Amino acid sequence: MYGGMKKTHISMVAGKGGVGKTTCAAAAAVHHALGGETTLIISTDPTPSLSHIFEVEDRRKPARVMDRLYLAELGVEEIKQMWDRKFGREVYEVFSSLVAVGYAEFVDFITSVLPGIGDEFMVDYIKELSQDRKYDHIIWDTAPLGQTLGLLKAPAMLSEHLRPAPRIYSRLKLGGETKKSVLDIIKGWASLSNDDIDFLKYQVKFVIITIPEALAVAQLDGIFDEINKHGLTPDQLVINNVVEDSTGSSFLKARAEQQKGYLEILFTRYQGIKIVKLPLFPGEIKGIDRLKELERYLFPVE
Ligand SMILES: Nc1ncnc2c1ncn2[C@@H]1O[C@H](COP(=O)(O)OP(=O)(O)OP(=O)(O)O)[C@@H](O)[C@H]1O
Ligand SMILES: [Mg+2]
Repeated sequence: MYGGMKKTHISMVAGKGGVGKTTCAAAAAVHHALGGETTLIISTDPTPSLSHIFEVEDRRKPARVMDRLYLAELGVEEIKQMWDRKFGREVYEVFSSLVAVGYAEFVDFITSVLPGIGDEFMVDYIKELSQDRKYDHIIWDTAPLGQTLGLLKAPAMLSEHLRPAPRIYSRLKLGGETKKSVLDIIKGWASLSNDDIDFLKYQVKFVIITIPEALAVAQLDGIFDEINKHGLTPDQLVINNVVEDSTGSSFLKARAEQQKGYLEILFTRYQGIKIVKLPLFPGEIKGIDRLKELERYLFPVE
């Protein structure tokens, strides 16, 4: 593709709850697969919405959806495994030097108490997947607004909180299996966080989904601010559920009229960014054929 050195393209689809993130992510995945790219669509949504929209029964991870398209919905179990592989034992060593707690109990606690933890691992996991070069494109369907923001905050927050730590831990040596000092472990976390934020910065494309309604428009600035604050830039804004045909019923006319003001605000406020409009479809969007209809709007021929 690129003279032998294939690069994995990564798109992260974000936005407030219920605006059509999963639908758009699925349509984008179909687009890239049809274009000949081996594509993975991935999420940590606790309800299996991707397999529902693709009408996939295959429970393997990844499951095959169609030619060149694979799907992985990671649940609590997979997230626990990721935790385990990545830094579970080390973090536990630190934690258990202060508090008496069993390992299984500790992991249960951590994965249940931090709702955004799936997405935090996802950055790391997708980074690894992209290094494998197995996929040409990875589409990441994220959890709604709050959790995604939490994810972006996580690495910076970690570094911040770790700052006083060396003073506390420098004299404490861990026994048993761990040869490293707590200080080394903490340094390891911090550099992992930095790698992840760099990865987001330089390799991931951010696609923000919104709808032309008051609350969604009001919350959008917050999403942009949060993304910018971390030195990241959104690449595309998708306005979903747009009704523009005013030749139809009075019902549609009223909706179109109401959306007009919000569309104007969006186009004025976000001039610097590529904007795509998607129509509100009469039926629900389920199955590959329906997604193909959406795909035409999402990727207009320019
Ligand atoms: N353009 C559209 N026309 C008609 N229906 C749509 C459109 N976009 C999305 N929908 C429908 O809206 C509902 C919500 O969409 P979706 O699940 O993609 O949102 P989401 O942002 O992923 O939600 P969540 O935040 O819960 O993950 C679905 O039933 C979907 O079929
Ligand atoms: Mg969703």
